[in-house]
Amino acid sequence: MLLDVRGLKVHFPIKKGLVFDRTVGHVYAVDGMDLQIRRGETYGLVGESGCGKSTFGRAILRLEDLTEGQVLFDGTDLASLKGEELRRQRRHMQMVFQDPLGSLDPRQTVEQLLLEGMRAHGMTKDRDAHERLTDLLREVGLPRTALSKYPHEFSGGQRQRVGIARALSVDPQLIVADEPVSALDVSVQAQVINLLADLQAELGLTYLLIAHDLAVVRHISDRVGVMYLGALVEEADADDLYEAPLHPYTRALLSAVPVPDPTVEDTREQILLVGDLPSPANPPSGCRFHTRCPWRQETRCDTERPALRTVEIDGVAGSHRVACHWAEQIASGELQPHAVTVSGVTDPTLTTHDDDSALGAKDTAYPTTDGG
Ligand SMILES: Nc1ncnc2c1ncn2[C@@H]1O[C@H](COP(=O)(O)OP(=O)(O)OP(=O)(O)O)[C@@H](O)[C@H]1O
Ligand code: SF4
Ligand SMILES: [Mg+2]
Repeated sequence: MLLDVRGLKVHFPIKKGLVFDRTVGHVYAVDGMDLQIRRGETYGLVGESGCGKSTFGRAILRLEDLTEGQVLFDGTDLASLKGEELRRQRRHMQMVFQDPLGSLDPRQTVEQLLLEGMRAHGMTKDRDAHERLTDLLREVGLPRTALSKYPHEFSGGQRQRVGIARALSVDPQLIVADEPVSALDVSVQAQVINLLADLQAELGLTYLLIAHDLAVVRHISDRVGVMYLGALVEEADADDLYEAPLHPYTRALLSAVPVPDPTVEDTREQILLVGDLPSPANPPSGCRFHTRCPWRQETRCDTERPALRTVEIDGVAGSHRVACHWAEQIASGELQPHAVTVSGVTDPTLTTHDDDSALGAKDTAYPTTDGG
């Protein structure tokens, strides 16, 4: 296990008052994450905007303060490191950002950008740094002439290659790629994703790949974790997750991914996610998805927070984990989805499939077919 995160919480204080800074609450950005990544693996982490993906990625690199929990990197507890030790540890963990232009100093040439990190870790002394620069550019598919250029002189895709080269320059083991292609044209997204895959094969890298789009992580990820309001709701090998999603939230996310084949499109399950993500400053009680869940039950869902657990369901792998009290009953069809009203927190009016008034209601999610 290269990375082992247990019970991680990152809470941001909400301050108020001009004279006395009073803490009036907290944003529970990461609130109980358990996640392990094996060496050489690509772990895809997905979830809606604001669910805490970036905060999690930054926290495992110790770029955020950890409120609670443990982050073991190659057996070392990062929470216990400070100063020089932490700085040295950081060489092994690098980040690739969504917006390469915002993360690269515009006044530095590519050469300066690449040398900066290497110099900070004393890597320019012990070997020929220029040979290393040439290798880096070749690895990310940029010409040698790129060294004297500035970030703004590149296209978006090339700029992301510079960002990747910069992360690679210090020879890291883990790369946290936070939405590395979402700012790029669709036509270049695949190129950058393929580059990441090639680099992994060549250099034995381990990736945490963050995306809000399940389609982006599907092909490159070995395992996928789905995050909702600060914690994982489901985790499985990529193929298992796409073939047999168990959590209602994952099923909703997958039903929103367009399928090119119209016959498949017509028959598969469609679950509309209603309402916005609740505020992480005031997360719902019990299961955090209960305000939007078409399978929500009157017992347990509102009061008891479900643990991420393995399940015994036919055709579901033993490593597949889900945080839903009713995963077995939902998978078997014993429990059927119902309409969700946005205000859902108050009176959960459970409507059935043939209740037309529910269909006509504004902001109502209604699962039409069950193709699974
Ligand atoms: N430094 C901070 N101080 C206070 N709140 C913060 C801070 N950083 C993030 N947050 C809040 O924490 C929550 C999680 O944010 P985060 O950026 O991790 O989400 P995300 O899943 O990466 O979203 P996106 O897909 O939009 O990038 C959000 O509500 C955000 O506003
Ligand atoms: S625990 Fe209840 S509310 Fe949460 S996902 Fe499962 S059925 Fe829905
Ligand atoms: Mg983010």
